[in-house]
Amino acid sequence: MSLDSCHNIEDLRRRAKRKLPSPMFHYIDGGADDEWSLQRNSQAFDELQLLPNYLNDVSQVGLDTTLLGCDLRLPFLLAPTGMSRLFHHHKELGVARAAAKHGTLYTLSTMATTSLEDVAAAASGAQMFQIYVFKDRGLTRELIQRCKQSGYRALCLTVDTAVAGNRERDRRLGMSMPPRITPRTFFSFASSFGWLFNFARDPGFGLANVAHRVDMLSGGAVGVIEYVNSQFDRSVTWQDVEWVASEWGGAFAIKGMSAVGDAKRAVSSGATAAMLSNHGGRQLDGCAAPITTLPRIRDAIGDQLELIIDGGIRRGTHILKALALGANACSIGRPYLYGLAAGGEAGVDRALTLLRDEVARGLSLLGCQRISDVGRQHVELVDEWRREFAA
Ligand code: FNR
Repeated sequence: MSLDSCHNIEDLRRRAKRKLPSPMFHYIDGGADDEWSLQRNSQAFDELQLLPNYLNDVSQVGLDTTLLGCDLRLPFLLAPTGMSRLFHHHKELGVARAAAKHGTLYTLSTMATTSLEDVAAAASGAQMFQIYVFKDRGLTRELIQRCKQSGYRALCLTVDTAVAGNRERDRRLGMSMPPRITPRTFFSFASSFGWLFNFARDPGFGLANVAHRVDMLSGGAVGVIEYVNSQFDRSVTWQDVEWVASEWGGAFAIKGMSAVGDAKRAVSSGATAAMLSNHGGRQLDGCAAPITTLPRIRDAIGDQLELIIDGGIRRGTHILKALALGANACSIGRPYLYGLAAGGEAGVDRALTLLRDEVARGLSLLGCQRISDVGRQHVELVDEWRREFAA
């Protein structure tokens, strides 16, 4: 199956599965514990039905929006995901270039395998940097300074990772950094020729933004869970959030919110945006799907924060449902990683093109010209229809 014959994100996922050794595929694809939140993230969109208004002039539709002070050509951005070198040798550079081509924001993870300076130099588009609070606060401060010097437009602080989620697929398959071949995964590595060839040609693998201060990987392969648990600070509180916001002083998002109280607190802590997220079901299993927490958080905070949601978005209509319930934009993680694994930069481009076209088509069919025309009148719970019918 070529990239051109991938007609939706699920097709890209299937192609990625064929191309990657199993530990890498399942590192992208998997979630925590029973993967309830992972599944629920997508399924919750099925509980919503769209209500189009026809006979509006939709000869011109536009997907442009403004978010975190950036003018974007798409109402969705690319979420931070660590260690892209594991999935394709184009790594973060290929992802950043594809995002720039589509005029949207790429969020570079602290756990990236390319330095934030190299990403800023390689791609012309607007970029956001995702930061964690490390036990070594000097490292966090240094990363913020480097982002300022490199021209990052926004900073996002991930707050749902006090400890690593229990990802059992990774434990079973011995997922580590750098990758390690085990008897269980030998055949999977051996049959992934293209991936193996490129890995042998360019084995350079490291956490490029932090390795100079946290050199855990030099002693051999380390489990991802072990790394997170040893380096991330569990004592982080709202005071640290305020500290990060003031050190940065620019557009600032807090990623990983689910509760109304936290969103309200974010308003007074210097945030520009809240990213409603359960980390794609990779952290607290059982955590609510972001699309279900969105309406009550929007009602509680009004326009005081921009709201971005991620988790389970696989279709343009998912993005339209989120916009209808009050999101300013959505972000996607696995959809572009499947694209990266399926075909490098061209695969990310394919993922973004598919979703862009789905949103544009859906917007026209909803009877809207612009993203800002989409509102609550365009969506209802499937259950509302059932209740009305039964009454
Ligand atoms: C992530 N995510 C993530 N989040 C973050 O704040 N920092 C990170 O380094 C990572 N790394 C990461 C790696 C991989 C492989 C995945 C799949 C996800 C979470 C990510 O930003 C986002 O919240 C989810 O991916 C959204 O869910 P979907 O779109 O993948 O369903």
